Amino acid sequence: MGLIGSSKSKEIKLSFEDILVSKTDINGRITYGNDKFMEVSGYSKEELIGTPHNIIRHPDMPKVIFYFMWQSIKRGRNIMAVVKNQSKNGNYYWVTTDFDIQKGRTGEIRNYIAFREPTPRKVIKEIEEIYRVLLDIEKDKGMDGSIEYLELFLTEKGMSYNEYIEDLAKPTSFREKILHRMKSFC
Ligand SMILES: Cc1cc2nc3c(=O)[nH]c(=O)nc-3n(C[C@H](O)[C@H](O)[C@H](O)COP(=O)(O)O)c2cc1C
Repeated sequence: MGLIGSSKSKEIKLSFEDILVSKTDINGRITYGNDKFMEVSGYSKEELIGTPHNIIRHPDMPKVIFYFMWQSIKRGRNIMAVVKNQSKNGNYYWVTTDFDIQKGRTGEIRNYIAFREPTPRKVIKEIEEIYRVLLDIEKDKGMDGSIEYLELFLTEKGMSYNEYIEDLAKPTSFREKILHRMKSFC
């Protein structure tokens, strides 16, 4: 892990093996974070636990991505998302996130767990461009505009957002094994 860039806000460059895990209640309040998640965020455990997950939200992230994300996980469906997050001192890092949805005995959702891995540079390049367009649309027309744009973009590709991200940022089988192992600890 290191910092790159010369501007005030620097990119936190994650290492290949870094996996950032956090767990929330059904409203998205953080209930657990692994050491790497805490370290990269720059916040203390006391600052993070019990706090809404948008504490690490980066202003460059379009609302529509979180709208799609919540729509999916609330239905108990995993989704893969590429997210730019902000650390306490204003630096940022890109992660590819997927979710584990924990349910109680009667099938009600109890917790969400997010597993994050570093996003490959070529994926960041493509996604950054799309997010910039979505953010501009949101400033101008609100989220209705960005939903419409993203849906049209995906229709043209013949994919859902999840399929598009999975296709773009498919983890290697090695990484899948590590993620699988980590999931069994939570
Ligand atoms: C398990 C879980 C992990 C999340 N991880 C992130 C994250 O890494 N970054 C982020 O900005 N939002 C994350 N969110 C979404 C936030 O709850 C929130 O919807 C988002 O930051 C947008 O905030 P806003 O609605 O205040 O704009 C996560 C939600 C859940 C349930």
